[in-house]
Amino acid sequence: MEDLIHISAVRHTFRTASGPLPVLDGLELSVPEGGFVAVVGPSGCGKSTLTRLVAGLLIPDEGDVSVHGAKIVGPRSNVGMAFQNPVLLEWRTILQNVLLPLEIVPTKLTKAEAEARARKLLALVGLDGFEDKRPSELSGGMKQRASLCRALIHQPEVLILDEPFGALDAFTREDLWQIMHRVKAEEPFTGILITHDLRESIFLADQVVVLSGRPAKTQFVLDVPDVGVRTLDHLYSPEAAEMLNILRHQIEVAQGRAPAQVTS
Ligand SMILES: Nc1ncnc2c1ncn2[C@@H]1O[C@H](COP(=O)(O)OP(=O)(O)OP(=O)(O)O)[C@@H](O)[C@H]1O
Ligand SMILES: [Mg+2]
Repeated sequence: MEDLIHISAVRHTFRTASGPLPVLDGLELSVPEGGFVAVVGPSGCGKSTLTRLVAGLLIPDEGDVSVHGAKIVGPRSNVGMAFQNPVLLEWRTILQNVLLPLEIVPTKLTKAEAEARARKLLALVGLDGFEDKRPSELSGGMKQRASLCRALIHQPEVLILDEPFGALDAFTREDLWQIMHRVKAEEPFTGILITHDLRESIFLADQVVVLSGRPAKTQFVLDVPDVGVRTLDHLYSPEAAEMLNILRHQIEVAQGRAPAQVTS
């Protein structure tokens, strides 16, 4: 399948008050159309910086970041983003929050069609009946679900999720993982998921990219076998245990806590 997103040989250094800070050095990442790639790596290595490259909010010093073969040269409106903090606007209802991107990004949808789409997305994530509530009336997991609908409302070419489930408790997080599978089946997207949770990465993504410590390069890539419908039970299978072991080792390498080669 053709790559929708292609990042190759990217290097970037931030100029800070205390001097140059190299953050990316040898970043390689490709996401095919309809693919979902998880990115894991040590804290502060450059994961959020990577998402800014894909959104066109940051142009790297060197290397290539392209979408559909066209080099990204500036901010792109056709991306959907969700973060650890859902930042919903309290003076708007949940429905109005979900509709917000359509006020910024050009759309062919009429007002009625847009609203119907927002209601459909909210129902898909189990938030039917909450359309007219305010963000403060929702739990953390519900806010995150609404934020996901908002990221998808304009049918973005790329969905970027930067630790969206990081602040949730383990059970709520697992609920959200299952909702993500439902959403992907109903509303196919091409996505990049930044996460610190290795189980989350193999449950949701079809490929996991491990970044090294800063400056980040692509250190390791794991393809997650297609097992059809994934259930939480899969996470307790021997295959999952093996993948988690490999990834855990790679994270230790990235943190400089283990040598690159497994010696046994
Ligand atoms: N605009 C900027 N100017 C200067 N330094 C920056 C800028 N943005 C990020 N950095 C620095 O670049 C490094 C990478 O930041 P980034 O947010 O990409 O890391 P991260 O991998 O997402 O971390 P975390 O896992 O904690 O979210 C950090 O040291 C950060 O301080
Ligand atoms: Mg980050």
